[in-house]
Amino acid sequence: MGKVYERLQTALTAVREKTDFVPRVGLVLGSGLGDFADTSMEVVAEVSYTDIPGFPVSTAPGHKGRYVFGYVGKTPVVCMQGRVHYYEGYDMEDVVLPERLMGLMGAETIFLTNAAGGINADFHAGDLMLITDQISFFTPSPLRGANEGELGNRFPDMSEIYDRDLRKLALKKAGELGIELKQGVYCQTKGPNYESPAEIRFLKTIGADAVGMSTACEAIAVNHMKKKIIGISCISNLAAGISPTPLTEEEVLEAGKAVAEKFTSLVTAIIEEL
Ligand code: HPA
Repeated sequence: MGKVYERLQTALTAVREKTDFVPRVGLVLGSGLGDFADTSMEVVAEVSYTDIPGFPVSTAPGHKGRYVFGYVGKTPVVCMQGRVHYYEGYDMEDVVLPERLMGLMGAETIFLTNAAGGINADFHAGDLMLITDQISFFTPSPLRGANEGELGNRFPDMSEIYDRDLRKLALKKAGELGIELKQGVYCQTKGPNYESPAEIRFLKTIGADAVGMSTACEAIAVNHMKKKIIGISCISNLAAGISPTPLTEEEVLEAGKAVAEKFTSLVTAIIEEL
């Protein structure tokens, strides 16, 4: 058995001691978006990351650090209230462990959300962006090291990371709800510092529409497991050099609260169909 797979089995056993809930969807809630689990789910069980042996625990603000199990409509969902980031000092293997575990719990679709800086000139703070593709060149791959055949193959295809049908569904639901949903390419940087204006000009040149410090590595690990992925960024601020003011963590968390209503309606409407 592979080393990571063994860690995952130990973690799965610990979760199964607390709940036998089998989710169809795994939802990761980004910075400032964690309230979704408290307001929009019929909660059945909760498991704190601290109760799972070998599990990374988030130190990031706005991240609680637990799985919440329950229903959105009739869809069984496990929700990550809090994720860990590469900038916290964890290896990529640890960073993506919680998402991989949702896959092993039974989730067929992983729904990734985050707060991100807007690079595209058409974006404003408070926009929602459907992730169409990603750039992950600036952080190590979570698949580095011996491949574990239990999880996936050595050289996974990445030509359609964010599932086409799920993107169509998201756009349809946004239209029905009258919510404007932008689309674009998400780029992950190492963090924890925000980018410089020169770095943002560079990211714009290489095709990024939004920038953040999570998600792309998680999408790589989940795509490796051949799960379906959907991703939505909350544009919490305009990126450095585009924004007239310095970037702050408070701004990012506040923006999450400001978009909570439309974020919640859209995520709920999409998950109800899964
Ligand atoms: N840059 C990187 N990560 C972020 C940003 C940003 O501007 N906003 C929210 N997360």
